[in-house]
Amino acid sequence: MTAEMEIFAVTMPGLEPQLLAEVTAAGFRGAVAVPGGVTFAGGWPEVWRANLVLRGAGRVLVRLGAIRVMHLAQLDKRARRFPWGDFLYPGGTLKVEVTTRASRIYHAGAAQQRIERALIEETGATLAPDAPLTLKARIEDDLCTFSIDTSGAPLHQRGFKTEVGKAPLRETLAALLLRAAGFDPALPLVDPMCGSGTFVLEAAEIAAGLHPGRARAFAFEGLKGFDAAAWDRLRATATPTAPHMRFFGSDRDSGAIRASAANAERAGLGGWCRFTLAPISALPRPEGPAGLVMVNPPYGGRIGNPKALFALYGAFGQVMRERFTGWRVAMVTSEAGLARATGLPWQPPGPILPNGGLKVRLYQTAPLG
Ligand SMILES: C[S@@+](CC[C@H](N)C(=O)[O-])C[C@H]1O[C@@H](n2cnc3c(N)ncnc32)[C@H](O)[C@@H]1O
Repeated sequence: MTAEMEIFAVTMPGLEPQLLAEVTAAGFRGAVAVPGGVTFAGGWPEVWRANLVLRGAGRVLVRLGAIRVMHLAQLDKRARRFPWGDFLYPGGTLKVEVTTRASRIYHAGAAQQRIERALIEETGATLAPDAPLTLKARIEDDLCTFSIDTSGAPLHQRGFKTEVGKAPLRETLAALLLRAAGFDPALPLVDPMCGSGTFVLEAAEIAAGLHPGRARAFAFEGLKGFDAAAWDRLRATATPTAPHMRFFGSDRDSGAIRASAANAERAGLGGWCRFTLAPISALPRPEGPAGLVMVNPPYGGRIGNPKALFALYGAFGQVMRERFTGWRVAMVTSEAGLARATGLPWQPPGPILPNGGLKVRLYQTAPLG
């Protein structure tokens, strides 16, 4: 049933090395980083597992096959002959997305219409813009490659963080930033401007041994080859560990603290994390060993005015230097000037990453002296 397929885990440009490390550590075979993601090999069980366990992937695509197409009539004919029945149930609902590049067929809309008609007439499919399944056709150098999005809703939607604050990080980005910052789940983590708690919740979930996709639905459940019993067995492979309180979030916004605590309870992480209403100036250093401060303070355009921002970053840096000796600090921000305003001894920053319409970078220190 499960011939070897090409699987593609999508991430944002700049984070491919972190996703590659995650895919490799999770035991997937033949993983290679390519622009925008990581490819690896496997059958349907690997596709299900990738959706279930990968924290950094935005979605998981599977390459179904490719046809050579020189003109629209040929696309029409060959799309009709494509073995859709190997993947799709007759009469299913899906949507089609087409991109073209460096090809004789340059009109994506016309190509999409041919592919849709082939699907409707050959498989009885219904097309709907909000369908759970998306077929992606990429026409490049006259080769049309069909892939199916096996995730459905993007994977940062884990299903627990139903309450969000002003500028939440995506869980997938937070997970890869934790990896880039060398997060060690055995050590404590503090986010003193935690908003809806994304860093703290991801950190706690990693330490708790829980699968990020344990509670949500996936598009692959509607594809041929899906085996509900095998999927249930796979979901049961998590190895949860007894809770240990070592992940701490605080924020000066009471709504953010309420939301974070509720998100933690919903995710079953109440015994791992504590959220406290406190401004940065009142941040206590947790008892026990030194760990990681991981923070995403307000920045450009999204929240706050420039003068107040510089003062906030300055106050943050001072609290770190005075109370957090021995801890490492990792901070996401959009401006080098704000990073400098902390006065912290940053190492060279990480690559530029898109976040909410702004470009951000990860700044990190060695353990503070
Ligand atoms: C960009 S948001 C953090 C979003 C968070 N990473 C998430 O995923 O939801 C910045 C947060 O800093 C908080 N904040 C701003 N000034 C603060 C201060 N002086 N002390 C503590 N928190 C502060 C805001 O209330 C806001 O929740």
